[in-house]
Formats: sequence, structure tokens, C-alpha cells
Amino acid sequence: MVLTATLKDGHEFEPMELEALMIQALVWSLGAALIESSRLRFDAYLKYLACMSAIQDETVEPKVGELPSWKTLYDFTYDVDRRVWVPWAKLVPEYVHDPQRKFYDILVPTVETFRATWLLQLMMNIKRPVVLVGETGTSKTATILDFLRGIDEETHLLLTMNFSSRTTSLDVQRNLEANVEKRTKDTYGPPSNKRLIIFIDDLNMPQQPGGGDALQITYGKGRGVLTTTQKKEGEEEKNYAPHAHLSSPCQWTRFPAAEGMCLCSVPTSRFVSLFSVFNMTFPDSSSLMKIYTSILSGHLSPFPPEISHLTEEITNVTMMLYA
Ligand SMILES: Nc1ncnc2c1ncn2[C@@H]1O[C@H](COP(=O)(O)OP(=O)(O)OP(=O)(O)O)[C@@H](O)[C@H]1O
Ligand SMILES: [Mg+2]
Repeated sequence: MVLTATLKDGHEFEPMELEALMIQALVWSLGAALIESSRLRFDAYLKYLACMSAIQDETVEPKVGELPSWKTLYDFTYDVDRRVWVPWAKLVPEYVHDPQRKFYDILVPTVETFRATWLLQLMMNIKRPVVLVGETGTSKTATILDFLRGIDEETHLLLTMNFSSRTTSLDVQRNLEANVEKRTKDTYGPPSNKRLIIFIDDLNMPQQPGGGDALQITYGKGRGVLTTTQKKEGEEEKNYAPHAHLSSPCQWTRFPAAEGMCLCSVPTSRFVSLFSVFNMTFPDSSSLMKIYTSILSGHLSPFPPEISHLTEEITNVTMMLYA
């Protein structure tokens, strides 16, 4: 999927270029759901298998046929036009402070958010549903909301659902039905010429392991069927919702707050297997510094220099206190 999405239409690739794209695709497919410590091992093994010259100099961009050794492949992207590996850190745009913007709407671009946005866009281009997982506070919600703000409303319809422990399958069904039109007897779809993007935040929340009601959503890819079922312990599984055939322009995007390694237990591994799963890792210390100093310096800019110059010190001290 990632390889398909990164191959540019009409571009003739040499075998070495294809190999670079294949390596990148392996990182963001086989290695995409890994946690940080496993990423290091995966990166080392991939480089070992690739048998390419290792570039240790941080100032040199590894060319096609070479790989960077001073950082992992997760920290680089392959630039098809320039035929070099470029560190994500070099591509992250500058943060521009907008005093009118509400604090909770601010997203300071970091390597993690910029990379996740790139992945979301790639998958969106090929209509591939996505799940972002990761520990709490890894900017999953913030990144995706920022990404969705950039979506063209003329051609897309956006449905956002925030799941909670009280969400029932009927709620989901009603929400969906309010956003799709009946096409034929049992086929539904978004208004014509529009693509429906469904974003479900905290999809794992309704799940209550060990009994009680369990919300289960099944997205049958082949048939394009979406069913929601609700089951009580000891009872036979009932389909409370009629089978709704969603026409193809439907994209799922969601990210549960997964804990540690149990990335595939929410809500069922069969469900998750229908998505591309990307683990968002916690911002490293330079990204954290960037987030806090960017927001604080924007906020303090109208103040006299003796105060506004304290931005870095205040951030450092706060980070040290927190640590
Ligand atoms: N790059 C960033 N720039 C500015 N604020 C950020 C950034 N990343 C995260 N935040 C802020 O940190 C807080 C936590 O982020 P967010 O809610 O996106 O985490 P999450 O991964 O969705 O967590 P959870 O798994 O608990 O849902 C939010 O208030 C968010 O606005
Ligand atoms: Mg969240």
C-alpha cells in the first residue's frame, strides 16, 4: 500500500530507486506499528538486509544506493525528485503563531506530526483506511484534526464521532445514516460527487472487556458492508443495525488510545487488520522544546524584551521540573 502510494504516476524508476522506495515502504508497513525500542531493532535489521553503504556524516544526504547510519530510517524520507534520503527534521515547516487561534487548536509542526500528516495524506490518496495508535498525549487527535482542517469541503464530507464508554451501536448507526443517502434499496453513500471521511476518536472506548455490552463494528472491505452489533454476555450476537452497504468513497480514519504493546486488541484484531496501522511515538526532547518554546514565544511576543527573552529559560526550567 505505501509503495503503491509513493510511486509517482508516469515516473520511470531505476531498480535502485525502486529499492529505496521499497525500503521506505517496509518501514511504514511492516515496521509502522512498532514501538520505539522495536523500531531500533527493525531499522538495524533492514539496513543489514539492504547491504548498502552507510553514511555517517550528518551533513551529507545519502544518495540512492546509500542509507543513513547516524539515525534510523524512520527519521528519513526518500526524495524521489532529488534521489536522496532527507531527514524529516529538515522538512518540518516553521511554526507561525496566530494569536487568534484557540490554544487547543494549536499544532506546532514537529517531526512526529509532520510525518503522520504525510502518511495520512498518502493513505488518503489511495483511499486506504487508517488507524493511528500510540500512547496518550502523542498528538494523535491534534494531528488528525489539523489534517482534517485542510480537507477540501467542496469535495469531501466529514463525519467526526467521539466514542465514549456509553457509545452504543445505535448511536453509530444513526450518525452514519444522517450522513449518507439512500442510493438503491440497501445501498447508501455520501451525496454525489462527495467523498465521506469518517473520523472516530477513541474507538476503543466502548469496549468493555469481561462482559456487559460490547460494541463491535465490522467493516467488511470486500463487500463494502458496515454493520454494528451489540452483544450481551451469554446472549447470541444480534444485529441491531440493518446491513448498510456503503458505496466506495468512504474512508475511515480513527485512533484509539492504545496502551503499550496491545496495539491490536482494539477493538478486534480482525477489524484492525482492515486498516493501515501507524504508531505515533512520543515527541523527543527537541520536539517537546520546539512545541513549548514556539507557543510561549508567540504568546510573549507583545511583552517587553526582558520578559519575551525568557521563553527558552522558562521552557527549560519547566521541562526540568517535570522530569
Ligand atoms: N505538536 C503539538 N503542538 C501543540 N500542541 C500539541 C502538539 N502535540 C500535542 N499537543 C497538545 O497535547 C495534548 C495531547 O495531545 P492529543 O490529545 O492530540 O494526544 P492523543 O495522542 O490524542 O492522546 P490520547 O491517546 O489520550 O487521546 C493536546 O492538548 C494537544 O493540543
Ligand atoms: Mg486523542
